[in-house]
Amino acid sequence: MANVAEGAAQVQPQVVHSPEALRSALSGRGRVGLVPTMGYLHDGHATLMRRAREVCDVLVVSIFVNPLQFGPSEDLAAYPRDLKRDLGVVGEAGVDVVFMPSTETMYPPAFDTRVVVSGVSEGLDGASRPGHFVGVATVVLKLLNLVRPDVAFFGEKDWQQLAVLRQMVRDLNVPVEVVGLPTVRAPSGLALSSRNSYLTAEQQARAAVLSRALAAVRSAYAAGEREASKLRQTGLDVLSEDPEVTLDYLSVVGRDMQEREVVDNDPMTRVLVAARMFGVRLIDNMPLVSVRPEMDSA
Ligand code: PAF
Repeated sequence: MANVAEGAAQVQPQVVHSPEALRSALSGRGRVGLVPTMGYLHDGHATLMRRAREVCDVLVVSIFVNPLQFGPSEDLAAYPRDLKRDLGVVGEAGVDVVFMPSTETMYPPAFDTRVVVSGVSEGLDGASRPGHFVGVATVVLKLLNLVRPDVAFFGEKDWQQLAVLRQMVRDLNVPVEVVGLPTVRAPSGLALSSRNSYLTAEQQARAAVLSRALAAVRSAYAAGEREASKLRQTGLDVLSEDPEVTLDYLSVVGRDMQEREVVDNDPMTRVLVAARMFGVRLIDNMPLVSVRPEMDSA
């Protein structure tokens, strides 16, 4: 896991657990930014916080491991947690308020509502992890309603999640600007993720095969290849170099998260991969077109 930048001024964030304490911490404090997280913060999260710090008056980070987005056979119980370290990271990033609700606060016994986003949530991770995006959309809408931020920041590493949340915000007229920021990578190219902590250093180095496969697809596109099956094969060839890779999907998708047969020059076209290595499910994605699209508002 990459280190969070050292040397930044330490600010003691206010830690709040209840919606009431959250409201009183935020009342009348200007432009509010929210970085929703499940904790075990890494440099990808810190990058979101630093960006949010630049453009907001008040910065809120939520830390909540959301049970609703984990399937019954997934890693909810094992999900990495280190609150002491997380508080150090938010302190260095100049976060004002850390919202850490309990599961009972978020999902009291009578809780009986789910947010279902169709279309963009249905393939890829939506197909492999049934119910996952319902859990994500439900918790993020709750967090947006509790914090009422002007801007919310998410990493592009979870590209499909970002598409689902943008769709939800548009469809439900949620008054928030959604900002997506590029994936932060280890020097090997491995996308930073809390789940990388399940892997040894050597396994993390091997897992960089995923980003190499994506980069190979990107290079083939840059060299003029436009047939998705051939672009895909280029990535599969790289992945086949490591027998540890159990592929879930490698897909070239448009902004609607649908697979393309022929790839155009829409800057929202991406190649996405999900695979299991050493028992850990990892995801990553890259844009095919190098021009950065205007992605910064919902
Ligand atoms: O990306 C994540 O860490 C989570 O899916 C999120 C957005 C915090 C919702 O639990």
